[in-house]
Amino acid sequence: MGLLWVGTSWKMNKGLSEARSYARGLAEYVGQTDLSGVQPFIIPSFTALAATRDELGDDSKVLLGAQNAHWENEGPWTGEVSVAQVKDAGARLVEIGHSERREHFGETVATTRLKVATVLAHGLVPLLCIGESADVKNAGESSQFILNQAAGALDGLTAEQMARVLIAYEPIWAIGESGRPATDKELRKPFADLGREYGSRTAGLLYGGSVGLDNAEDLLGIDEVTGLFIGRAAWRLAGYVRLLEIAAAHQKARNTR
Ligand code: PGA
Repeated sequence: MGLLWVGTSWKMNKGLSEARSYARGLAEYVGQTDLSGVQPFIIPSFTALAATRDELGDDSKVLLGAQNAHWENEGPWTGEVSVAQVKDAGARLVEIGHSERREHFGETVATTRLKVATVLAHGLVPLLCIGESADVKNAGESSQFILNQAAGALDGLTAEQMARVLIAYEPIWAIGESGRPATDKELRKPFADLGREYGSRTAGLLYGGSVGLDNAEDLLGIDEVTGLFIGRAAWRLAGYVRLLEIAAAHQKARNTR
């Protein structure tokens, strides 16, 4: 059985001391716990990357990520941070195209494509986020929409490059305080369609959007789902630890089946 990816983006939260204490606690937890088959990852703000890396320590089982990065390596791009810079600060994964970035910061299919290519060129893992709005869902066009977002960002990659990509399907209507968790029934078709196209070619297909302690097990039960991308429910370490435990138990049950 392949890995289950279970991670959290802190979005625009946590100063240095909070980030450090979370990372310190997490390092201690993963050091003492058998999480075989589960790949934890955390995605702090840029400002907390290096401090988080220091607390996790070298060779940590926890993969560190950045929430965004520019496609150019350097230059006159005021306010931007490059893939080379986030790598230097400890990131091994870069989140690309979260719906909040698409909505508020002009991220497009074209920019996600440029970013995926640069992240791969630097040997990091791209975590491509895709997801449709409620209007697109209500029009019955979810699958078509997310497959277009994925193809736009990933077409043309070699098989070796594609094998390093993670895709997170995060329906916009399921994300954040105003979102509601997607049901198994709603997720079955989009994941079947994504699975057919990308399941065996990529490193993982994650679900994100109001993941919590009450629905994590059901979400992991969807055939094509190989991970969870979590916001609010993992911003406190205790919540993240519980979700890692659910994933580890799920993985164990799968392997003994
Ligand atoms: P949420 O965020 O779990 O708080 O809904 C998910 C996300 O934006 O990835």
